[in-house]
Amino acid sequence: MAQEGQELILVIDFGGQYNQLIARRVRECGVYCEIASYTQPLEKLKAKKPAGIIFTGGPNSVYLPDSPAIDKEIFTWGVPILGICYGSQLMAHLLGGHVEVAEEREYGKTLVDLDVTSPLFAGLPAKNVCWMSHNDHITAAGPGFKIIASTPNCPVAAAADLERKLYSVQFHPEVLHTENGTAILGNFVYKVCGCAGTWKMASFVEESVAALQKRIGSGRVLCALSGGVDSSVCAAMLARAVGKQLTCVFVDHGLLRKNEREEVCAVFGEGGLFDLNFVCVDARERFYKKLAGVSEPERKRKLIGEEFIRVFEEEAKKIGAVDFLAQGTIYPDVVESGLGGESATIKSHHNVGGLPDFVDFKEIAEPLRDLFKDEVRQAGRELGLPVALVNRQPFPGPGLAIRIIGAVTPEKVALLQEADAIYREEVDKLPLAERPSQYFAALTNMRSVGVMGDERTYDYAIALRAVTTTDFMTAEVTELPPATIAAAANRIVNEVQHINRVLFDFTTKPPATIEFE
Ligand code: XMP
Repeated sequence: MAQEGQELILVIDFGGQYNQLIARRVRECGVYCEIASYTQPLEKLKAKKPAGIIFTGGPNSVYLPDSPAIDKEIFTWGVPILGICYGSQLMAHLLGGHVEVAEEREYGKTLVDLDVTSPLFAGLPAKNVCWMSHNDHITAAGPGFKIIASTPNCPVAAAADLERKLYSVQFHPEVLHTENGTAILGNFVYKVCGCAGTWKMASFVEESVAALQKRIGSGRVLCALSGGVDSSVCAAMLARAVGKQLTCVFVDHGLLRKNEREEVCAVFGEGGLFDLNFVCVDARERFYKKLAGVSEPERKRKLIGEEFIRVFEEEAKKIGAVDFLAQGTIYPDVVESGLGGESATIKSHHNVGGLPDFVDFKEIAEPLRDLFKDEVRQAGRELGLPVALVNRQPFPGPGLAIRIIGAVTPEKVALLQEADAIYREEVDKLPLAERPSQYFAALTNMRSVGVMGDERTYDYAIALRAVTTTDFMTAEVTELPPATIAAAANRIVNEVQHINRVLFDFTTKPPATIEFE
């Protein structure tokens, strides 16, 4: 939530796919930004006192009766508004303009003529490549509006009512395919809304630490630490705020990657970077026992989730009642979407989100609730966390159990840990920008014949995965340099016993998922 006196740009969500990106770009301009659904009552939106408003895109047609809309009163507040794509059409539709289905659908990079005398396009070239994606278009912008951009197919690519500070763009300034897109959003927040741009990570961390100190007072805090980016940054922030009043519990369920436990203990344990109480629970045997003979993926997930809660509950009992339970919830977890709706459960994700029911506490502390993932990483850097931890790729709660096809045994875990560590080591030799979003090894349950020395072998195949994605909902295969894959494969068969074959997974998501189970 915006802090008292902080400038806020409010993004009103009409169901577009780039909404979070709009908020990210505005924050990159140094202005705090939140997303709210178009279904929220108008007075709730007004109470946030935004310095500016952005209407997002969306998949509907504004002229259809059930399409998302907003009360026209919003245009009388005197708050500058920028409509993007659907948002621009909605603005035209509500303010006396005309929107209709375009003869030719416009999609992709398009050269747009800009009126660079408009504050929105100040400093831009007169012809700018913009990203278009629309079936409908505006044919008349409405009284008071002046056309400030056009293409041969799209007569009103942008329009402005200077007096009412209403702007609309048919294209998407938030996506990287639009050249100077961030500059356009920057012009909106600075030149149109008059923001000063004081949102900075260093001051965010400082203010959050001070706010946590004030809120927690002399209270006690419990935090479940997974070693992932979010929970680590959350723990680090609380440690800076309240030191020994914080207890972090880290559970080693025996399904972690190689050396992960040692790495977490080195940062948060005794002699580490923070002054806090740290409990590392060695629960490996318990989890292996539970998982013995279980090969069905969802059953594995469920057993691990339940056992995790049991272990945590036992530890929490030893600590006794606490005042706060700290959680590393981040903004994409909480953001309200306009046209949400439940998608089908493909996999039940085990996260620590279920803990509140099992721990004795009075309040929840979620210091990262307002941050996007890369902002969480930035906060981590501000807090002095090691680079390797801050840049860590996502790792699922059930850990290696869902990267071992079939039943989990401690021996298989050890095999996979070794192979995975080698693969990651080889990929990590690439520059950061060339590394995939997620890359790991999985142990298949396929055994095949090989030859080692003069001996016949009958051993397992390791599969290597590398994907590039922004949202993890869809993913492309990362085409790693062949030399990287070859080096990893060569080292794995040489250094890890009982692996005689290495396969590379070339499947996108969909139809495959990122994990193997
Ligand atoms: P999938 O395999 O569903 O993965 O394509 C998408 C992203 O979610 C992660 N993932 C999980 N994370 N518990 C988690 O905390 C889980 O059970 C789980 N399953 C998948 C996966 O690593 C990827 O980043």
